Amino acid sequence: MQKHPLYIFMISVHGLIRGHDPELGRDADTGGQITYVLDLARALGFHPEVRKVDLLTRLIEDPAVGPDYAEPEEVLGPNARILRLPFGPKRYLRKELLWNHLDQLVDRVLHFLREQGQLPDVIHSHYADAGYVGYQLSQLLGVPQIHTGHSLGRCKRQRLLDSGRKATAIDRQFNFARRIAAEEQVLEHAALIITSTTQERDEQYGMYQRFNPKRCLVLPPGIDFTRFSAAGAKTVDPRVKFMIDRFLHEPCKPMILTLSRPAPRKNLLALIEAYGEDEALQELANLVILAGHRGDLRDLEETQAAVVTELLLAIDRYDLYGKVALPKRHAQEDVPQLYRFAARHGGVFVNPALTEPFGLTLLEAAASGLPIVATQDGGPRDILANCGNGLLIDPLDKKAMAATLREALSDSRRWKTWSKAGKRRVVRHYSWPAHVDAYLKNVGRLLHRTRKTRRRSLALASGLERPPLPLAQWALISDIDNTLLGDRQGLSELLEWLTGKPEVGFGIATGRTVDSAAKVLRQWGVRTPDVLITAVGSEIYYGPDLSRDEGWSHYIRHLWRRNDLAGALQNMPGLRLQKRSEQREFKLSYRVDPQRMPALADIENRLRERRLHASLIYSHNQFLDVLPLRASKGHAVRYLAYKFGLPLERFLVAGDSGNDVEMMVGDTLGVIVSNYSGELEHLREQHRVYFAPFPYALGILAGIHHYRFADAAATMIEGNNA
Ligand code: GLC
Ligand code: MG
Repeated sequence: MQKHPLYIFMISVHGLIRGHDPELGRDADTGGQITYVLDLARALGFHPEVRKVDLLTRLIEDPAVGPDYAEPEEVLGPNARILRLPFGPKRYLRKELLWNHLDQLVDRVLHFLREQGQLPDVIHSHYADAGYVGYQLSQLLGVPQIHTGHSLGRCKRQRLLDSGRKATAIDRQFNFARRIAAEEQVLEHAALIITSTTQERDEQYGMYQRFNPKRCLVLPPGIDFTRFSAAGAKTVDPRVKFMIDRFLHEPCKPMILTLSRPAPRKNLLALIEAYGEDEALQELANLVILAGHRGDLRDLEETQAAVVTELLLAIDRYDLYGKVALPKRHAQEDVPQLYRFAARHGGVFVNPALTEPFGLTLLEAAASGLPIVATQDGGPRDILANCGNGLLIDPLDKKAMAATLREALSDSRRWKTWSKAGKRRVVRHYSWPAHVDAYLKNVGRLLHRTRKTRRRSLALASGLERPPLPLAQWALISDIDNTLLGDRQGLSELLEWLTGKPEVGFGIATGRTVDSAAKVLRQWGVRTPDVLITAVGSEIYYGPDLSRDEGWSHYIRHLWRRNDLAGALQNMPGLRLQKRSEQREFKLSYRVDPQRMPALADIENRLRERRLHASLIYSHNQFLDVLPLRASKGHAVRYLAYKFGLPLERFLVAGDSGNDVEMMVGDTLGVIVSNYSGELEHLREQHRVYFAPFPYALGILAGIHHYRFADAAATMIEGNNA
């Protein structure tokens, strides 16, 4: 039993999700996954160990899809609701077009959570798009992520290639690059991956480099068994009985029942042939095939017509008139009765498909007390292992198929054991309550584990539980070299101040790489900050795992042509590339010889002539950094303010040199330490830039006092810049 009932945050981004009359099948994005997440959210909400379930999806304002999807909130049941947040354009979009808008959803969720003042215990994402959002949130909030893929990009891409489609065309249509990259990332990060079958785990997830089967839980979705049970009405609707009986000489014989679409993969022809070639089997039982609906066979879709024609021809070839029933149509509500009828008369259900990843009909049969004979593929294998109610067959071996069916039909004691086992065990393994029990047991274990490691790292750090950055009330962002570091005494005073202020988020902004920043901080005994802005603002990481903010990378990539820029600057006099480790995806850095280097404006012109865009940051008369237009320490700070919903005037920023300028100006509370370098002199008259009377960390502390920063009693911030 969980000590604290859980708050579970589910994310399922695409398609049309609503709690009442879900519009399943309305389009390609509104299918099985939608049923799954709705059922799961409701079932979780009912559980006593769960206090709240939010199912997050997209808010859509589009007359084409109706007003239900524009409601920000919809109750699903006890403790469960749908939460809709808008992102991207208002209109409905198919899922391949959502990718560019997902970072915005991340931000919307952060604002939502801040307003709500409550963080979930676990994030459960569904499909790659939500996986991407869940991954970002999980990192930012320090909340573990659970992920269910539902279907995987690599598998779909392979299927399309196998069917003869061209790689370039399908990549454009389905955005596979984004999808697969996101999937790899989620598979590496998520604490738990849920798959429906072992086959899905091994064969589909097995196509991913960063998938770790140890973190995978095979947990089939729950089935609604209220329609399927052995305990239903004793008699069968005469209409249903007639539908079958009119085909048969001896309708009282046990039936071999099968139910599937008339698709080649379902291998129904092999079943008729197996039956047709085995007279002993024909003696034992009739064969009843429910294979979709047909009016005039000639009107049927081409492959379906071909399958049904083959079946009819086989019946004729083996002269199975009076022994095989192949009704033209049946109603949905007839199906439970047929299972039950077959079970009452000692029959079996057979699924001879060539491949069967799941096998819903097998579960329905089991619930009805009808033993099963099924193809030896992933789905049936799992089902038989769980339910112990029948036998496996090789779908390509007709003789063995017939023999197995005979075997299943002839031992009545074993038949009874199977029938009973199936009824009992299918509910234990495949109902939503059973699913939720197993789910919560695993989540409980996972939370226990993560809480333990978190406690350990926090104990090392400060001993105080800090809220994650998205809930911080204030943020202190400092440059490293010559600002935070330089004076040990001042540093230890500053760190002590921080320890007493858990509501203050702590970050650094530096020209160093993330590795070198982490290293020098460690050397000075500074705990990993909540956020690290590195490489002059071109990268953002979050502690304690130093996970990178991918949203930031996407945002600054705009107009960035690194190779062309490097080429254009290659023979520029006075510029020499810095060492390899300083060259980053979004940062080209040079050492300069100020005597030989052309004026900055000339370099800028040269780049502009070649239609190249970059921002040039010159510091200490030694360094030239070439960055994307959108990247700088200042932009990064503003991005964080936006992302975490924290106003800029809640940010105290401290620095000493040229690349700190942008974060000083504007609404932030700027602090310049007294050992600053000359290029900052021009900020003297700037609004909200405080020139501290002390160097290094002592200077930062002076700034804190000056602004009465993070002082709950200080209401007036405006005008503090005396
Ligand atoms: C740091 C970086 C260097 C950069 C300089 C100025 O020293 O290591 O690559 O050029 O800051 O921003
Ligand atoms: Mg510095």
